[in-house]
Amino acid sequence: SENQPKYKRILLKLSGEALAGDKKMGLDMPTVTEICKSIKKCYDVGTEIGIVVGGGNYWRGRSSENMDRVRADHIGMLATAMNALAVADVLESLGCQVRVQTAIDMKQIAEPYIRQKAVRHFEKGRIVIFGCGTGSPFFSTDSAAALRAAEINADILLKATMVDGIYDKDPHKYDDAVKYDSLTHQQILVQSLKVMDSAAAAMCRENKTPILVFDLSRPDNIFDAVMGKKIGTVVSD
Ligand code: GTP
Repeated sequence: SENQPKYKRILLKLSGEALAGDKKMGLDMPTVTEICKSIKKCYDVGTEIGIVVGGGNYWRGRSSENMDRVRADHIGMLATAMNALAVADVLESLGCQVRVQTAIDMKQIAEPYIRQKAVRHFEKGRIVIFGCGTGSPFFSTDSAAALRAAEINADILLKATMVDGIYDKDPHKYDDAVKYDSLTHQQILVQSLKVMDSAAAAMCRENKTPILVFDLSRPDNIFDAVMGKKIGTVVSD
């Protein structure tokens, strides 16, 4: 019916950049609030929500050329933890119950990631925000999203990003770029389509996790996606 979400449990991947709004750096709280209002609407229709946040608004691991890669990735993980706490705070202020779990122990600040506890939180009506990526360097936050989606048996991975779907080539560079409505995991990997890195895409294929890629410049797309409205590009088996 009209107020029934299409998905029982989702894993929402929020890019760090999207949290910066026009500032491009750090957190733009009005932007974060708009995003969280859309998440609250999903919460209110009873969808169970796990969230993985990126950290690109604080730290771009791959642009720190002279730094040791492992150390750069550690800084990136801390950036995601800051974003997780900020998003949790806004969601709580909107009336959601939220728990933050981090893949790197920082017990004074957040719960450690424990899969069974996360699932219990969902059952009790809590949003769980997963910080620190996978907890390992060399893995992107998209890989963390793919991993957590598989672990919590999410019905779909919602990748909220800066483009409105998947194209055959970069739509910012080519006027004739064509947007796909749907694709298979195999096509993403074989055609090297720029959706997520191949480790993350392979993980989704392996676990048959559907992915919906959509634009976050309109925050209410999160709610529309959860309600099954046809937006973005869907990737499935
Ligand atoms: P249930 O026992 O399933 O109802 O879950 P709960 O999260 O309400 O209870 P719990 O006693 O585990 O947690 C109470 C509060 O402490 C919640 O706000 C948790 O987020 C928080 N909390 C639990 N474990 C930790 C931790 O290791 N570190 C931090 N910083 N907070 C924690």
